[in-house]
Amino acid sequence: MRALRREYLQALDLQPWALRAPAPAPGEPALPGAAAALALPAAPGDTDWASLRGRVSVCTRCALSTTRTQTVFGVGNERADWFVVGEAPGAEEDKQGEPFVGRAGQLLNSMLRAIGLARDAVFIANVLKCRPPNNRDPSAAEVAECLPYLEQQLALVKPKIVLVVGRIAAQSLLGSEAPLGKLRQQTHRFGAARVPLVVTYHPAYLLRSPAEKRKAWEDLKYARKVALNG
Ligand code: URA
Repeated sequence: MRALRREYLQALDLQPWALRAPAPAPGEPALPGAAAALALPAAPGDTDWASLRGRVSVCTRCALSTTRTQTVFGVGNERADWFVVGEAPGAEEDKQGEPFVGRAGQLLNSMLRAIGLARDAVFIANVLKCRPPNNRDPSAAEVAECLPYLEQQLALVKPKIVLVVGRIAAQSLLGSEAPLGKLRQQTHRFGAARVPLVVTYHPAYLLRSPAEKRKAWEDLKYARKVALNG
């Protein structure tokens, strides 16, 4: 396990002294097991995965429906303890119909592995289910139309923690205009069930600004503690 962790931390390009940063002690419990019984109310209409998937796949609530190749619903363990939220599909995601499959997705996988999580152990979705043309930022109206789908996904998964990557997703979920640097390293609460929500840098940003990977590693360790302790 330690060798594996080292391997993934190296994928984050962290220097050796950072590799000695707290790893789980021997015998420390694995990441949370069964999902907690949180009581996020489902929005009216969609109370199960099949109907929610169906509605998203044919959604025309905003103009992105006219430019998308397909919707990108989300992927992963429907009973996950960790729910990862990104901004919106990019070109590759729009093509494949799955979130975080491009270069940023590879780094996201490494980030998750660094805290002992396989990609398929978590649930991954975006605030927007459709790609904004040319990867422009989502508009406030697009976020408002699409956010109920994410809220319904969260109500179905009932995660122990929501890990939000990037400023846009964080601001959208928190209804905040604060910069990411002010939102990270603290436990926010989301929805009626007040699910713990932790913010870190977007992997695409980390690819452009590798010096920030160290801070992302601090955030991941922080999130791991929150997931274990609530
Ligand atoms: N960036 C995101 O925020 N989401 C994706 O699915 C891919 C890239």
